[in-house]
Amino acid sequence: MEVFSLKKMLLWLITVVNILWSTAECREPVLHRVGGGKYTWAPNMNFTAWAMHEEFYVGDWLYFGFDKTRYSVLEVNKINYNDCNDKNCMANITRGGRDVFNLTEARPYYFLSGRGYCFKGMKVAVHARYPPPDPAPLAVRNVCPSKSASHGLAMLLALFTSYAVIG
Ligand SMILES: *[C@@H]1O[C@H](CO)[C@@H](O)[C@H](O)[C@H]1NC(C)=O
Ligand SMILES: *[C@@H]1O[C@H](CO)[C@@H](O)[C@H](O)[C@H]1NC(C)=O
Ligand SMILES: *[C@@H]1O[C@H](CO)[C@@H](O)[C@H](O)[C@H]1NC(C)=O
Repeated sequence: MEVFSLKKMLLWLITVVNILWSTAECREPVLHRVGGGKYTWAPNMNFTAWAMHEEFYVGDWLYFGFDKTRYSVLEVNKINYNDCNDKNCMANITRGGRDVFNLTEARPYYFLSGRGYCFKGMKVAVHARYPPPDPAPLAVRNVCPSKSASHGLAMLLALFTSYAVIG
């Protein structure tokens, strides 16, 4: 009975350590599927509403899944975004229709589809920010404990548990 509860306690400890370790100040980059769903970049969707419920941080990625024979993904400035103007785009992101874009800077980004589809709602603005500061004062910024480190710790605790259980 005593041994059993000790084991349970240790298992609980392992879980807690793992959770703390993985949710610590280290945030993994997120891949945002623009619009959600499989074919994410399509007409008659409200990408403004979608973007409102996402948080974009520097280092995150946008994924555009679309029919490349019809649509395109162009990065434009704010004025051209507002006007649905696909001339003089800043960058043409269009590749094979499963295209990713790296949000490398803390600034607003504006995208639209050429060939008139912007007027059918194919435009999206996202504002990439720096990740919020660490809540833990002693934590070192940008030092990500590797998965193997936390697994190693869990392994050690598991080993210790079996020792305790066996005798
Ligand atoms: C899209 O959603 C936003 C935020 O909910 C709203 O303000 C806007 O009017 C919508 N646009 C269209 C075209 O429905
Ligand atoms: C893209 O973002 C990652 C973080 O997700 C960053 O480490 C990398 O340097 C960026 N790559 C390019 C080509 O800018
Ligand atoms: C963007 O690139 C795609 C694929 O290379 C091409 O078909 C399209 O014409 C380009 N659009 C513009 C506006 O440059």
